[in-house]
This record gives sequence, structure tokens and C-alpha cells, in this order.
Amino acid sequence: MYNKGMSKHKLIYQIYPSAVGDLNDIAALIPRIAEKLHPDYIWLNPFFESTWKDGGYDVTDYCKIEPRFGRLKDFRHLVSVAKKYNIGILIDLVINHTSSEHPWFKLSEQHDPKYKDYYIWLDRPLNWKSFFGGPAFDYSAARDEYYLHLYDSSQPDLNFNNPAVVREFRAIIDFWTREGAAGFRVDSANVLAEDNLKKGFIPGLPGFFHYYQKPQTIKVLERLFAGKKLYTIAEPVGGEFFSKRKFYELTNRAFSASFNVGTLDVADSFFSTKDKVYPVNYRRWFRKLAKWAPEPKFSMALESHDAPRSPSRFSTDPRVLAMLQFLLPSYNPCIYQGQELGTPNANLSNNIQDYPGVQSRQVYRRLRRQGKTKEQAMAIVKRISRDNARQPINWGEYITQGGQDDSVLNFYSRLIELWRNDPVVADGTLRVRKISKSGVFDFERSLGKKTYRVHLDFSCKTPSVLINDSGETLISSK
Ligand code: NOJ
Repeated sequence: MYNKGMSKHKLIYQIYPSAVGDLNDIAALIPRIAEKLHPDYIWLNPFFESTWKDGGYDVTDYCKIEPRFGRLKDFRHLVSVAKKYNIGILIDLVINHTSSEHPWFKLSEQHDPKYKDYYIWLDRPLNWKSFFGGPAFDYSAARDEYYLHLYDSSQPDLNFNNPAVVREFRAIIDFWTREGAAGFRVDSANVLAEDNLKKGFIPGLPGFFHYYQKPQTIKVLERLFAGKKLYTIAEPVGGEFFSKRKFYELTNRAFSASFNVGTLDVADSFFSTKDKVYPVNYRRWFRKLAKWAPEPKFSMALESHDAPRSPSRFSTDPRVLAMLQFLLPSYNPCIYQGQELGTPNANLSNNIQDYPGVQSRQVYRRLRRQGKTKEQAMAIVKRISRDNARQPINWGEYITQGGQDDSVLNFYSRLIELWRNDPVVADGTLRVRKISKSGVFDFERSLGKKTYRVHLDFSCKTPSVLINDSGETLISSK
């Protein structure tokens, strides 16, 4: 059995089921992924019954599997295959909102006594903005009131000030835990509860500070996971606003680890607005990563189902990106399916009608309203679209690249081996030596008397290397 090394290091591998197939197809992939990468966890994006307007983040039944992915027995099979390789399955808990087609919402619209307070209802809309753009309140004719949706209008926000909603999610967590889940990735984890709903107006960022990581949200999360032995990872909202103080508050009290999309978005866009593309600002990016990487509960991710592919996004060699992720201190790194194969952005269509995701369509509409021509708007959408990373992967590449010594896949494999087994790479402290505008990042990792040097060059003019204390090159991008 492969030695997964020091226990506080956890490698997560993310699978977006709709781009792979059904749960049995995923189970069949596990031996390949395990052989090359040895993850501790596989996080599955939602595979529950859903209206699929937002890639499964619009759930209609949390305890039912969407039929095209299989049945509960297939989930159990997946868990048992993963277990053979010492891998735990993480379920995506889409907790901030349901689909507007969820029976809870339908009943809430009808003032059903049990469900009437399951969502946030007001008799007049506030000026809050949704994350996808446009107003965050919509009118329900059935109820003759306005409901809050921080995302799309088809994703009404649940009311976490209502203890019955918290109980529902405790039951959902128990359900999946009984079925064998090892933990959860919690979607939009820090915007669950709102305060002061009547006084919603704040110029500039309407609403934000009425729902952004409120004490009530932390209490809810504590209640949800109290007394459970699970690996829990938060997906907090907030980009630049997600400070270290917020990170500690969230992770000390409710989570094993947390992402921070701000540590990636800072490189080329601001505050996840996603409809502008800026040239990569290496200085800002590397400085931010250097601050966050040493945190034992921070999870570094360079890709996800919400971002374009990193080699295309940063126009660089996937090996250099891999070195950034595994040679900085890295306690809970997350690899997105296909990243280990160096997958670039998809060749997406020039027609917005062909895009399945709500986000691409919203960005397109916003750009057109800002006066961009169809061609200009599509050029931006194609570059930033989340749909870039949601395409089927050619898994045959595992065999092809597996047989090529210098492939990206084998590079990942060697790097992960170092990350697991070399104490300096695993646990050494970080000292930044040089950060340049052109994408050079030089740093040292030290443990005891040993100091290793890392040179990363995003322009690829020089090889990126890791050199140990005896001057030996342990790994090189060229
Ligand atoms: C974050 C998820 O990662 C994203 O894909 C989704 O659109 C939003 N949360 C809303 O659930």
C-alpha cells in the first residue's frame, strides 16, 4: 500500500460527474487516479436530483441521485471501491439555496405552515445584487412576496435563522454519512444567514454586509457538524474580503479546511466579477499565495468547475503550475479532474445559445448591455467561461501519458511523491527570495538544517526547478 505520508497532508481530487458519466464510470476511474496521484479524498460535484440550470447546484431532492448517474447502490459501490485505495468520498452540500422547483420552495410559496419560513420572504424587494448579476430579490406571484436569491432567480436562498432548516440539513448530512461519505464540501459556506433584512441598502455593495459571514452562519455550521468525525471543506464566498480573520473564524469552528478563490482570482481579475480579464499580475498573486500557503487548513486549488483551465488562463506550462501548487507549503491541495493531464481550455462555441451554464449567459448579457459587440462579448465569454472546465475528459490519456516519462501526468505523480515523502517539501517553512513582474517566483523551504531552493518561471524562459541542500535537482519542468 502506498504510504500517504503525514496525516495532516490531505490531497483532494475533484470530479465533476456530468463530464465523466455515471457513478459506475467514476468508480472505474478510481484505480487509475489512485495509482498516479494517491488522493486522500475525492470530492464529487452535485449528482443529486436537480433542474440542472446551474450544473446541479439547484437541487430538487438532496437524498435522491439524478437517475442518469445511477442509484444508491452505485454510490455504495463507489464508496467501497474508493475505500480499497484509502480514499474517502466527499459530497457537495449545496446548502445556501435549493432549486425553485424543490418541493420545499413550492410549499413555501403556498404559505404551507411547515414550510412558509424555509426561505427569505419580504413584502418589498431590497436593492441587493446577486452574485450572477442583476437583482437578488424576485417576485413570487404565488405568494405575492419577494424572495432572496444570492445566485440565479431559480436558486432561492434558504432561511438559516429557522432551526427547522438546520435540522433538515443535519438529517441530510446523516443520510450521506450512513451511505459511506467521508465528509463534505460545503457550497457558499459563509453566506448562509442574513441579518437586518429590513435595512438592506448599502451603496456600492448592496446587501453584502448583511449576509457576509455573519455570526449566525458560523453557529449554524457548528451545529451541522458538531460531534461528527468528517473531513469538511468550505467554499467561502468573498474573494478579496475573505481575510485571514474570516478564514480562522470559519475553519477553527467548523471546518477541516477551506478554499479561498481570492488567492487565484487576484492573479487576473478582481473580486470574481468574471466579466473583465486583466493581464496576470504575478506580484499580487505570488505575494498573496505566499501569505496563505503555509496555513495548515488552507486548500490551494488552481482549477475547479468554476474556473477556466489554468494552462490557458496563465498561458504557461502545466508543470510550472503543478510546482506552484505542490512546492509552496500545501496541506490540502485540490486537483481538478484533467488538471493532471495538462488539459487546456475547450474550444467553445461562438454562439451563446450553446452554453449550458447560467454564468456564461449572464456574463454575455451583461457585456452586451455594457455596449460590447457580439464578437467582443463572445471573445471574453470563451476565455473566462466555467464551461471550459466542464467538458468530457479523454481518460485514455492516462494510458498514453502514463507511458511517457516526460508527460504532465508523470510529472504530477513524481511531484506528489516528493510532497508526500520529502519532509522539507512537506513541512519546510517558506522564505520568499524573489518575485518578479514577468512571472519569476524564487523561494526557499527549510526544515532543520536543510534548505531547498525553488525557482519557478511562468514565462518558461528558464526551467523551473527544485534543488535540494546538496545542490541536486529533485525535479525540473524541462
Ligand atoms: C459555488 C459553486 O461552486 C458554483 O458552481 C455555483 O454556481 C454556486 N456556488 C452556486 O451554488
